[in-house]
Amino acid sequence: MPVVVEAGSPVDPGLLSALPSRTTVLGSVAELPAHLERHPHEYAVVLGPAVPLEDAAAFSESIRLTRPGTSVVLLCDHVLATTLTAAMDAGIRDVVETRSPEKLSAAVERAQRVWEAIHGTDAAAGGGTGRVVTIFSPKGGVGKTTTAVNLALALADNGRRTVCLVDLDLAFGDIAITLQLFPHHTIYEAVPVEDHLDYDMLQTLLTRHEDGVMVLAAPTQPDAKDRIRASLVARVLTTLKQNFDYVVVDTAPSFEEQVLQAFDETDDCVLVATLDVPTLKNVKIAMETLDLLNVAPGRRWLVLNRADAQAGLSVDKVESVLGMPVTVPLPTAVEVASATNSGRPIVLSHPQHPVSRGMHTLADRITGASSGEPKRDGDDPKPETKSRGLFARQRR
Ligand SMILES: Nc1ncnc2c1ncn2[C@@H]1O[C@H](COP(=O)(O)OP(=O)(O)OP(=O)(O)O)[C@@H](O)[C@H]1O
Ligand SMILES: [Mg+2]
Repeated sequence: MPVVVEAGSPVDPGLLSALPSRTTVLGSVAELPAHLERHPHEYAVVLGPAVPLEDAAAFSESIRLTRPGTSVVLLCDHVLATTLTAAMDAGIRDVVETRSPEKLSAAVERAQRVWEAIHGTDAAAGGGTGRVVTIFSPKGGVGKTTTAVNLALALADNGRRTVCLVDLDLAFGDIAITLQLFPHHTIYEAVPVEDHLDYDMLQTLLTRHEDGVMVLAAPTQPDAKDRIRASLVARVLTTLKQNFDYVVVDTAPSFEEQVLQAFDETDDCVLVATLDVPTLKNVKIAMETLDLLNVAPGRRWLVLNRADAQAGLSVDKVESVLGMPVTVPLPTAVEVASATNSGRPIVLSHPQHPVSRGMHTLADRITGASSGEPKRDGDDPKPETKSRGLFARQRR
């Protein structure tokens, strides 16, 4: 995939839309070495017009021998002869004017062909190592969508990771409205093409959020849910995980067939509970079901939402009832509700708020950043071979 470097000045959205949807956007050239180490399959580095020519040349020189398959493309407002000479000397493969999105698209396609000529076509697909993170609770209204949206943004970490947010609350999904998006397409349009659905088709159904997270929206009509088969959910999730670092799945509050299918593909399962006895009872039962289905063993996380002292139940009590530690307690806060209503989730509108910090802690635990576990996007092994679940068995 390509990676774009902005260097303090946002790249024109028209240009970004000329690039594949899973393109990563970085803030500075200094972030590139670590990013390329984590993402060895990046085939193009697009340096925005704000990147100084000498930094662009130095970067291109630095990867010329070590990553010959990765092409550097330089964006300029106006291409001067001196720029072209310096670029050629440094091994920059293309210099493109910012008013030519189609030339940028062509340059990036050339870069992909160069990569494939050197490494093979499978390598350009990125190796399929993304993780599916499913947010679930058997109770409605406890904060699943709030967690899914904010966790997706926290995982994206300002474009350092590619994230796709999938709304599997197929009858009443509200991811799009929570992010104030007006999708032209939804998962429903994948129904007639299920048998030959590939990423090229699927990406046309995604909607880009301004902060880089891609969204696969739920159908607009509740009855469309009945036409979305579990097998389509499997195909969508396996395709997305080959193309994103993280696929975050929001769910309906029940074990319906599409949600069960998502569990089959799930690497990390985030359970959301609140401090009330009926919810805890149902979450306990749900956990037993997840155990039976062998969903994400050892990779389950517990969000205790609205974890306020006056509720009369303590975090300790919850942990002993559910038999697992609370990963993050989140307080009730009016800012969460107003962030939902304004379409700007709390991790963006109040990054230092305790709820936002909780979401980042959860993201860190999932990526392994603060738990001492290896990061996913390195060479770490998958947790275990999957042999779980009703639907996995049916497919075999
Ligand atoms: N910690 C919190 N403090 C205040 N309001 C919250 C908090 N968490 C969630 N909310 C609000 O509660 C409402 C329900 O949250 P959300 O939509 O995330 O729940 P849900 O579990 O996805 O619900 P559903 O089952 O209907 O899909 C939203 O208006 C949200 O803004
Ligand atoms: Mg919801």
